[in-house]
Amino acid sequence: MLLAYHYRGKTALITGASSGIGLAFAQALAARGMQLILVARSEERLRHLASELRERHGIQAEVIVSDLSREGAATQLARAVRERGLNVDLLINNAGFGTYGPFAEQSAEREHEEIMLNVTALVDLTHALLPAMLARGEGAVINLASLAAFLPIPHMAVYAATKAFVLSFSQALWTEYRRQGLRVLAVCPGPVATNFFAVIGTSQEDMPGGILSPEQVVAASLRALERGRSQVVPGLLNKLMAFSTHLVPRTLGARVAGSFLPRRTQPGRSAAGGRSLSSTPEPQAH
Ligand SMILES: NC(=O)c1ccc[n+]([C@@H]2O[C@H](COP(=O)([O-])OP(=O)(O)OC[C@H]3O[C@@H](n4cnc5c(N)ncnc54)[C@H](OP(=O)(O)O)[C@@H]3O)[C@@H](O)[C@H]2O)c1
Repeated sequence: MLLAYHYRGKTALITGASSGIGLAFAQALAARGMQLILVARSEERLRHLASELRERHGIQAEVIVSDLSREGAATQLARAVRERGLNVDLLINNAGFGTYGPFAEQSAEREHEEIMLNVTALVDLTHALLPAMLARGEGAVINLASLAAFLPIPHMAVYAATKAFVLSFSQALWTEYRRQGLRVLAVCPGPVATNFFAVIGTSQEDMPGGILSPEQVVAASLRALERGRSQVVPGLLNKLMAFSTHLVPRTLGARVAGSFLPRRTQPGRSAAGGRSLSSTPEPQAH
């Protein structure tokens, strides 16, 4: 049986902490007294957030700038964490983005980057940080999957497949390590009011059903973490949608999911507003 989860004094590493759900995790965990390691590409935003959280909550907050879609970036990040003498008690693999539109029209390079960030970096970082958690006999990993993890989604083929990977991977680890003091949680939100839609080139107003705030997603995630769950789908309507995917053949579900998608309002752009991989600095601890 799992003991209650205590936040105060522990350290959380959050990828994609510069906006949206990752930023909401940072705020919620700082308010609970956790020390933070904030990771993303937008250095200025991370620095601003870190100083605001230090001032407001009296916690320590480190900033590490990293483009996690680059080969080996997660391993370099883990090394930078070790060099700072930090232990990670809670790893939140949140950084991610989507692509949207007919598969044949998508940039192969961009979708490669999507898989590197949503899948490869998440696995590499978990590989790098999980052994120390096991050695301590306690630790936690929260992975951002999506409602898109439950079905193949036409026009989001790669994104939905990356999130199906995250859900499957997380639940396998939950099962492997649940008796060794580790918590592993996959968070599967439906639409959330963040930059996500601007990045894929749609508008969140066009999404079916309710849109949750990042704060609602984080509150549901932390409740699920505390209860030792393997998966959480925030929001009642989203829970029903996730459940309904088990009742119909997958190809029928895929057709229905595709029919709900909004039309594209603008071409998708880079999650960093177009910065190229090569222009991103090496991980730096601040
Ligand atoms: N919003 C939704 O409707 C929704 C629904 C289900 C699941 N999700 C998942 O939730 C997670 C968070 O997304 P969000 O909705 O909060 O979107 P967001 O506001 O666009 O945040 C994405 C975060 O990821 C970071 N990021 C993007 N590319 C990166 C890279 N190459 N290296 C390092 N960091 C990178 C961004 O920071 P920088 O640009 O500063 O690097 C940002 O902090 C994603 O995994 C997403 O798939 C979102």
